[in-house]
Amino acid sequence: MCGIIGYTGQQDAKEVLTEGLRQLEYRGYDSAGIAFLTDDGIKTIKSVGKVECLCDKVKKESDDATTCGIGHTRWATHGGVTDTNCHPHSAGKVTLIHNGIIENYKELQKEFEAKGIHPVSQTDSEIAAMVINDCYDGDPIKAIRSATKRLEGAYAFCIMFEDHPDVIYAIRNGSPLVAAATDEGSVIASDMVALIKYSKDYFVLPEHHIARLTKDGIVVINENHVAIDPPMLHVNWDVAAAKKGGYDYFMLKEIHEQPEAIRNTITPRTKDGLPYLEDDGVPDTIFDGINRIVITGCGTAMHAGLVGKNMLEHLIRIPVSVEIASEFRYSNPILDPHTLVITISQSGETADTKAALELANKCGCKTLSIVNAKGTSIARESDYVLYTHAGPEIAVASTKAYTVQLSVLYLFAFRFALVRGCISEQEARDYMKKLHATIDDITTVLTYDTQIQSISERLKHSEDLFFIGRGLDYALSCEGSIKLKEISYIHSEAYAAGELKHGTISLITDNVPVIALATQRNVLAKTLSNVVEVRSRGAMVILITNADTQVDASLCDHMITLPKMDDAFTPFASAVVLQYIAYYAAISRGLNVDQPRNLAKSVTVE
Ligand code: M6R
Repeated sequence: MCGIIGYTGQQDAKEVLTEGLRQLEYRGYDSAGIAFLTDDGIKTIKSVGKVECLCDKVKKESDDATTCGIGHTRWATHGGVTDTNCHPHSAGKVTLIHNGIIENYKELQKEFEAKGIHPVSQTDSEIAAMVINDCYDGDPIKAIRSATKRLEGAYAFCIMFEDHPDVIYAIRNGSPLVAAATDEGSVIASDMVALIKYSKDYFVLPEHHIARLTKDGIVVINENHVAIDPPMLHVNWDVAAAKKGGYDYFMLKEIHEQPEAIRNTITPRTKDGLPYLEDDGVPDTIFDGINRIVITGCGTAMHAGLVGKNMLEHLIRIPVSVEIASEFRYSNPILDPHTLVITISQSGETADTKAALELANKCGCKTLSIVNAKGTSIARESDYVLYTHAGPEIAVASTKAYTVQLSVLYLFAFRFALVRGCISEQEARDYMKKLHATIDDITTVLTYDTQIQSISERLKHSEDLFFIGRGLDYALSCEGSIKLKEISYIHSEAYAAGELKHGTISLITDNVPVIALATQRNVLAKTLSNVVEVRSRGAMVILITNADTQVDASLCDHMITLPKMDDAFTPFASAVVLQYIAYYAAISRGLNVDQPRNLAKSVTVE
């Protein structure tokens, strides 16, 4: 999704802005632009394409020295991918960048056009600049306040006013903004990855507050026009963690970071061998009166919920439903204070997940979020938060975020079951041991790369593919399928193996690849008979099994055997196999794994 960076200070602003935009590239974008202060006023340079195209243009078109400016990577929503539609946008004395969507921009545009004022772009963002300029009489804060009363929708703005040199104003509603003041100046961005080079200490700009950034620091003003000190946050990762560290792609690096990410996530929550959540501010009273759980999220985060449901229902025996956040928010769901709603999100800013959480809060449910990015909207708006400690996830395809989400869901289930008396202390300890053992299992599976790379080569020319599995293996099939689709562009579907006969098997013909997961003993024979069915219709079968089950390798074309492990814990290892398959299939097709077409890392608009 769009990226924002703003800077005012002692350093070369063009350098800071373009470097910040490079850091934000992972969010997905189609064009980029910057505006900066020069002796002749504010200068804007924009370009369709990569940040490097913008940098070339900046070199050609400007040798101005500048220490204040704003920069943006755009992911087109309103209006096509053109230089004109690219940010920053200007109107009169106002130049701004914008993340989000102004929902009433058409009506506002009509108002301006009636007065003979026409925008040059097709964007909602330019209309926002026009509104702020319209409200401007020399007082930026007053103008921003009046303008935002006229704007409907989500926004994060960084704004420069021509007659207030060296100052950047910012405000947000829904869309994220984080900021830091350093000896070198003040910097603001849509996410921490762009700030980390300058500071590990930062704050989240509270919604509807205005930040005024100058070379000397940042003042945050609340809605009553009082300056406040927003709570400071600290990240414990550094620039190196946000770089590729010798790997060809962030995705591969992040796949390899999973053992450490899980260790960092579960070790501090293990006390005397038992699951422990008090230090996270999650007391055992969270379980009081809960008779139902709803888990919601989008994409991979929602898939983590499917696995979590299995463990929660198995141990606690209360109903757990997993809802796609974009559906849930409009489904008029039946919720009450006895429902615990768990929202899962790596970024903590996914618009649909956030809306689902808001609905749950409104309905009086207890809300708990599982979030990777600290201090983000979803974390702040939940009653309780359990952070995953995966460090920054840069690749669009989510990998380590998924397995740490599983680890937190499992740990939470163990604590819940223990407190409810569904399992004994000894059983809880055994479960925790098995959870810790997944770190070694994943480490083992990471050594399968050569085998999986050569198997994945066979998918190079495939157009359609099926993932099949039952129970937990079906949940993993959903995750395997999204991963493959998003980065290799091979069409794939996840099917509950038992459903094949009800339609899908008609699509199985010679050499159609089928990735069959058969790690669950209770349904092993059933899944294997589905494997036989598809193979006898010509499918090329890649079978993923559990070492304990001793499956006959002649049943399939390729077999990938997970280390010996308890059935309930195979998702951790299977996930890595599926991530590798997607990664190497995409590599064999010569694709840019980290930045798949049309996709954004963090979907902060509906
Ligand atoms: O940041 P979130 O976890 O809320 O993101 C949710 C989805 O957009 C995300 O998991 C998406 O499905 C991934 N790109 C899949 O790999």
